[in-house]
Amino acid sequence: MTNESLANLMTEKRRFAPPAEVAADANVTADAYRAADADRLGFWAEQARRLHWETEPAQTLDWSNPPFAKWFADGRLNVAYNCVDRHVLAGHGDRVALHFEGEPGDSRSLTYAELLREVSQAAHALTELGVEAGDRVAIYMPMIPETVVAMLACARIGAPHSVVFGAFSADALATRIEDADARVVITSDGGYRRGAPSPLKPTVDEALTRPGAARVRSVLVVRRTGQDIPWTEGRDLWWHELVARQPEQHTPLAFPAEHPLFILYTSGTTGRPKGILHTSGGYLTQTAYTHHAVFDLKPETDVYWCTADVGWVTGHSYIVYGPLANGATGVLYEGTPNTPHNGRWWEIVQKYGVTILYTAPTAIRTCMKWGDDIPAKFDLSSLRILGSVGEPINPEAWIWYRKHIGADRTPVVDTWWQTETGAIMISPLPGVTVAKPGAAQVPLPGIAATVVDDDGAEVAHGSGGYLTLTEPWPSMLRTIWGDDQRYLDTYWSRFEGKYFAGDGAKKDEDGDIWLLGRVDDVMLVSGHNISTTEVESALVSHPRIAEAAVVGATDPQTTQAICAFVILRGGAAEDEGLVDELRAHVAKELGPIAKPKRILPVDELPKTRSGKIMRRLLRDVAENRELGDVTTLTDSSVMELIQAKLPTAASED
Ligand code: WT7
Repeated sequence: MTNESLANLMTEKRRFAPPAEVAADANVTADAYRAADADRLGFWAEQARRLHWETEPAQTLDWSNPPFAKWFADGRLNVAYNCVDRHVLAGHGDRVALHFEGEPGDSRSLTYAELLREVSQAAHALTELGVEAGDRVAIYMPMIPETVVAMLACARIGAPHSVVFGAFSADALATRIEDADARVVITSDGGYRRGAPSPLKPTVDEALTRPGAARVRSVLVVRRTGQDIPWTEGRDLWWHELVARQPEQHTPLAFPAEHPLFILYTSGTTGRPKGILHTSGGYLTQTAYTHHAVFDLKPETDVYWCTADVGWVTGHSYIVYGPLANGATGVLYEGTPNTPHNGRWWEIVQKYGVTILYTAPTAIRTCMKWGDDIPAKFDLSSLRILGSVGEPINPEAWIWYRKHIGADRTPVVDTWWQTETGAIMISPLPGVTVAKPGAAQVPLPGIAATVVDDDGAEVAHGSGGYLTLTEPWPSMLRTIWGDDQRYLDTYWSRFEGKYFAGDGAKKDEDGDIWLLGRVDDVMLVSGHNISTTEVESALVSHPRIAEAAVVGATDPQTTQAICAFVILRGGAAEDEGLVDELRAHVAKELGPIAKPKRILPVDELPKTRSGKIMRRLLRDVAENRELGDVTTLTDSSVMELIQAKLPTAASED
């Protein structure tokens, strides 16, 4: 990747110093960088002491067989004990672990003592179903407390869980059950979404008719909605019957630090989903440390809310494991942000006095589109730290988030990481870093990341290339489940001795890192490499644009032509001059080479449930191809709406 003549994201010059009150009382100061630089492994050994170890590790990192890392390998611990029991034993049993807010408005607050009882009972229940340490358990659930209980119960007995998104199809579920060879599935009758009960159990039933999933012997079903569901005697069991009659005490066993904790499937651009394997001690060390450092968590006073779905890694690391290891009080919300009204999230912030909010740029842009007046109706003054994750956050959205949600006062932390990294890797620290809107900026203490060129050489400040991680880190994936070779090929073969993240990035003059999106998303236009992220960011900096998705479509003249799909702000109507105005705007921001050839106003963009734009599908549309696999799309009707608009696009040529 080259920089060519593009002006770029880095033209954003606004800077935000940490507020004095955050800096004065910050959990982590600039000393942490110095300590980690002086002794990286010593730093991580120190962080591991945040946990309770049944056997303290004497080893920190075993990198004798790279890239197969072992962290704290001779230590033994129980992950669930660390997330639950020890807080109760420390006298915090009455502290709320989770404030659950159901979409219909029902709510329930679970203390650490209650969580301990439920996790203990669920652990006994799984044992009664014959689940032993090492056996995989599939979890296909809505965002309800039992989902967290189920994950912790698995962790408690050493049975790796595989959580599958509640919106995935029967086929997607069956493939994942088969790949992990799970014999037990935990699900619910359904969950509430968009104001109505939405079934889950029938999808499990359908998945289990697939030959690959036929070995499942038990399905444990939580009653959430009360809707009628099919039932298979002998295989299906009600959670409230099986779990509730179990003993309330359960003795956790300690497992080796490298005992598998979970498998989480992430879809590659092609082929079978990859089962990303995470293990126990290193994963919990880094999720706990980063949650403490990046969100400046004060467990006694903060109310922390991560809006992600528990079915993706953000939910694993920053709803369940990191926060609970730290004894945090969290919020768990079942539903969508606009049910029953567009201010639902802000109502929840107000209701629970949320102090730390962690969400995704796509959600922030959606709220921008709905209008500033919506959050303005609620009391958001409790908020003190805002976080972002999942994709590059364009400076406009960053500024809006800080201004309209954070009262122009709160730090915003843009956190870069991946399912594979397990925990946050690159992020400002709220009490230390002078923030640059649009940049994840600096590797956290103890993390080594840099940007390299095609040959793997580190680029100079002010240049772009590929993001790589140059030292192993505690929460790194250990392999792809059942496929060590694919692990090597996918992540470790592109650059000798370095982990290749698949993302393009730039280093600015200060050496700070700006993420540019997946390298598959870089377009080649008349010999210039142009990142889709940069063009999208330029488009949304126009006052009439709320969201944009950009793809490169094959073009006989220019190799690829830039095609943009845009959503207008606040229901603005499209008019004659708009497309020309937008093209001129991009040319002004980025240079004439980045001017989109086509711009198509649409009502929605195709997204996965984790909020990522499915550019692959937009490319199919832009190149007039039949659509590829749409099963991971939140709402597949979106593509029909976009296709129906196509003639407008063609006339732009
Ligand atoms: C990919 C990983 C990490 C949990 C959520 C996604 C993109 C993530 C950022 C950020 C720019 C980001 C990258 C990364 N990404 N966070 N702050 N700035 N890009 O997990 O589904 O495994 O996706 O998300 O492209 O590689 P994931």
